[in-house]
Amino acid sequence: MDTFFQWIHLSAAVIGVGGMAFLLFALFPATGFLGEEHRNRLLREVLGRFRWITWGVIFLLLVSGLYNVRLVWLVPWGRYWEFLTIKIILAFIVFAIVLLLTLPVSRFKWFRARRELWLSIAFTLAMIVILISAYLRRG
Ligand code: HEM
Repeated sequence: MDTFFQWIHLSAAVIGVGGMAFLLFALFPATGFLGEEHRNRLLREVLGRFRWITWGVIFLLLVSGLYNVRLVWLVPWGRYWEFLTIKIILAFIVFAIVLLLTLPVSRFKWFRARRELWLSIAFTLAMIVILISAYLRRG
C-alpha cells in the first residue's frame, strides 16, 4: 500500500509540474505567431481540458500526501518537520494559484489576466517543493 501511494504521489507531481512546464515553455511561446482571436481560442480549448487534469492532480497529491504524512508521523520534531511544514505550505500556495487560474469564476478574472506570470510563480514554487521533497527523502 505504501508503494502504491508513493506511486500516486510521484505520478501526480510529474503530470502536474510537467504540464505546467509544457504550457510555459512550449505552448504559450509557440502560439505567439497566431492572431489574438485564434490564440485565445486555442488556449481556451487546451486550458479547458488541462483544468480537469490539474484538479485531479491536486486531489491525488492531497490524498497521497496525507497518507505519506501518516507514514512519517513518528519522526521526532526537528529539521525534518520544519522542512516538511515549509513544503506543505508552499504546496498549498501552488494549489491556490492553480485553482484561482482554473476555476471558472468570473470574480477571478483580474487574476487570470496575468496568467503567465502566476503560472511561472507556481512552477518555480513547485520546483522548490520537489527540491525539499528530495531533501526530506535523502537528507
Ligand atoms: C505541489 C505539490 C507537491 C509536489 C510537487 C510533491 C512532490 C513530492 C515528491 C517528488 C516526493 C518524493 C517522493 C519519493 O521520493 O518517493 C514527495 C514526498 C512527500 N510528500 Fe509531497 N508533493 C506535493 C504536495 C504534498 C502535500 C500537499 C503533502 C502533505 C499533505 C505532501 C507530503 C509528502 C510527504 C510526507 C512525503 C514523504 C517525504 C519523505 O520521503 O520523507 N506532499 N512529494
